[in-house]
Amino acid sequence: MSNNLLKGKRGIIFGALNPDSIAWKVAERAFEEGAVITLTNTPVALRMGETNELAKKLNTIVIGADATNIDDLNNLFIKSMEYMGGKIDFVLHSIGMSPNVRKERHYSDLDYNYLDKTLDVSAVSFHKVLQTARKLDAINEWGSVVALSYVAAQRTFFGYNDMADAKALLESIARSFGYIYGRERRVRINTISQSPTVTTAGSGVKGFDRLLDFAERMSPLGNATAEECADYCITLFSDLTKKVTMQNLFHDGGFSNMGMSLSALQQYEKGLHHDCNCGDNEDGHKYD
Ligand SMILES: NC(=O)c1ccc[n+]([C@@H]2O[C@H](COP(=O)([O-])OP(=O)(O)OC[C@H]3O[C@@H](n4cnc5c(N)ncnc54)[C@H](O)[C@@H]3O)[C@@H](O)[C@H]2O)c1
Repeated sequence: MSNNLLKGKRGIIFGALNPDSIAWKVAERAFEEGAVITLTNTPVALRMGETNELAKKLNTIVIGADATNIDDLNNLFIKSMEYMGGKIDFVLHSIGMSPNVRKERHYSDLDYNYLDKTLDVSAVSFHKVLQTARKLDAINEWGSVVALSYVAAQRTFFGYNDMADAKALLESIARSFGYIYGRERRVRINTISQSPTVTTAGSGVKGFDRLLDFAERMSPLGNATAEECADYCITLFSDLTKKVTMQNLFHDGGFSNMGMSLSALQQYEKGLHHDCNCGDNEDGHKYD
């Protein structure tokens, strides 16, 4: 259902890899709400993924960019403004990747070159996007920039590894840049802290299916889906949230304010007679 919330607005969407991607749903919803958008992803993702099909569906173009590369980002903003005929009103940063997670490096045995990559791709890229946009004066007054985060930025989650550090940095960048961009050009910058969601990046997290079940049991409203996340993004891109900035906004069915729910407790009780063997991991890590 469209309410024309983004009618006349121009947006750039990072990170739509395939139909499971949260960014894919956001792009579809933005288009439905009357926006014109350009899509972007890395050259590798454009070869392996389905971003080009989405572009056809939404009658737009894809501009390849590695979000850690300033030249690519300059080209992306300039080409997007040319194609859409004016400055940008909203940007979605929907990017995450950790080589330490991919290679199953334990958090107490990180590869620091991988950590640099995790932080650069998953967090510093957000700063690079904002700095590039500001230098080009590419975003309209009252424009809105959103990045996607996860509650592991505040609380420790088994297996989330160095992505937790990346998300903490990402949320900090939203605050620090939000001050500057807000004062100068009234551009608002927020992060949405989303429930676990079945996507390519999400499924890379250790024990993801159980995490999904646990979060579902803990959240009074249940896990937020990718479609619901897209709806929330649309409100933040719209003129209905003009004074919301520098916030980390939980979109998680209430999970982040729960301690224990009956449903999670009952499930836990079922397993009480089994020993979880938490201390006996093959790799010798007592607390994983
Ligand atoms: N899936 C979840 O459970 C979940 C929960 C909370 C937050 N998030 C966050 O949502 C965002 C989107 O992830 P998703 O779950 O839709 O998975 P996804 O795998 O569909 O999207 C991740 C995207 O990042 C892109 N990317 C990787 N490196 C890049 C680079 N150098 N430059 C530009 N793009 C790059 C990938 O190509 C991909 O399109 C991420 O920030 C993720 O951490 C996901």
